[in-house]
Amino acid sequence: MSAPRFDGIAVGATLATLDADAGYGIVENAALAWKDGGIAYLGPHDPALESAAAEVRRFDGGVIAPGLVDCHTHLVFAGDRAAEFEHRLQGASYEEIARAGGGILSTVRAVREAGEDALLAESLPRAKALIADGATTLEIKSGYGLDFDNERKMLRVARRIGEELGVGIRTTYLAAHALPPEFAGNADGYIDAAIEWLPRLHAEGLVDAVDAFCEGIGFSPAQTLHMFEAARALDLPVKLHADQLSDLGGAALAAGFDGLSADHIEHTSEDGVRAMAERGTVAVLLPGAFHVLRETKLPPLDLLRAHGVPMAVATDCNPGTSPLQSLRQAMQLACTHFKLTPEESLRGATTDAAKALGLRDRGVLRVGMRADFVHWRIRRPAELCYWLGGNLADGVFAGGKRIA
Ligand code: NIG
Ligand code: FE
Repeated sequence: MSAPRFDGIAVGATLATLDADAGYGIVENAALAWKDGGIAYLGPHDPALESAAAEVRRFDGGVIAPGLVDCHTHLVFAGDRAAEFEHRLQGASYEEIARAGGGILSTVRAVREAGEDALLAESLPRAKALIADGATTLEIKSGYGLDFDNERKMLRVARRIGEELGVGIRTTYLAAHALPPEFAGNADGYIDAAIEWLPRLHAEGLVDAVDAFCEGIGFSPAQTLHMFEAARALDLPVKLHADQLSDLGGAALAAGFDGLSADHIEHTSEDGVRAMAERGTVAVLLPGAFHVLRETKLPPLDLLRAHGVPMAVATDCNPGTSPLQSLRQAMQLACTHFKLTPEESLRGATTDAAKALGLRDRGVLRVGMRADFVHWRIRRPAELCYWLGGNLADGVFAGGKRIA
């Protein structure tokens, strides 16, 4: 007997393919079939299709949409910063805490103390929570190690999360996140060291992209540029924590390197937005950090729309500014704080998030794309941004395999 045409088929749900410039791309009474991890059929249901599949998943309603892509996380870390959260509520600012040696550096101390297995054990539940709420691809940054061995440890843990959970992982080297104490007063020297570690980590297959924190409490545009030149020499794409707390021209700097994305961008000017539009740099909106820091300066949303810059939405899952473990919740915050429409939010957490990672094989449901999809217990896609919390993801599939 010949092998079945499909490894699996899902029937009985409505599809929201997002495979159109506008609209959800709804297909009612649909079937979605996959083979070898890719989508092999998508369209009206016909019972004859079922006999061509090795496995039939029958749903009683609900919506199948592309798997969510969390394109900006720092989910590999140890410890927590709940005490810092309390300090901020008592009036201390994020910058003041950072300058006093807390903030990112307190997580660096915890990560350096943790062994690789312990770091994995602490990080896995966060990855599982994101997957349980619909994520099929996670970007994970380093940046709490700040020396060769500990940056390597973080990136290895990120890869191991992918192996353990079956979720797609993209790793980002963010050694230029904060200045470690051993380089106090010598940020240029630290950047030189971090540039020297990069090819070694890349040679181990640990780096998919390079990022930096370009900010008064982070690194200067000149230091960021230096790091980006090192990335370019290795053909690695860049992305940037840009213009979060002040406008240092970070968005334009990232665009100048054909950056995949400029992230946060609350303070980005119209020139920055124009540069992003020209170079195809995606805006990654991080409403979780905006919310937790109780920011008031909105990203330049109207300018991004006017210039046609794709807007992705991500959790920024991190222990300091965004201890957020649900991308669907980030989509909800993007609607309430940034007034994205639910459709923009869903596209931002799928299609445009995939663009922000340079991935062309996911983010929409289409024949030939990866079979990354979620069956949601909802009637219409806008519900994904409507409910706060709850348990909506009924089945989460990556490459046709159920991962939650
Ligand atoms: O994206 N801004 C720098 N990086 C993170 C925060 C990291 C932290 O505070 O631990 C961010 O918000
Ligand atoms: Fe971040």
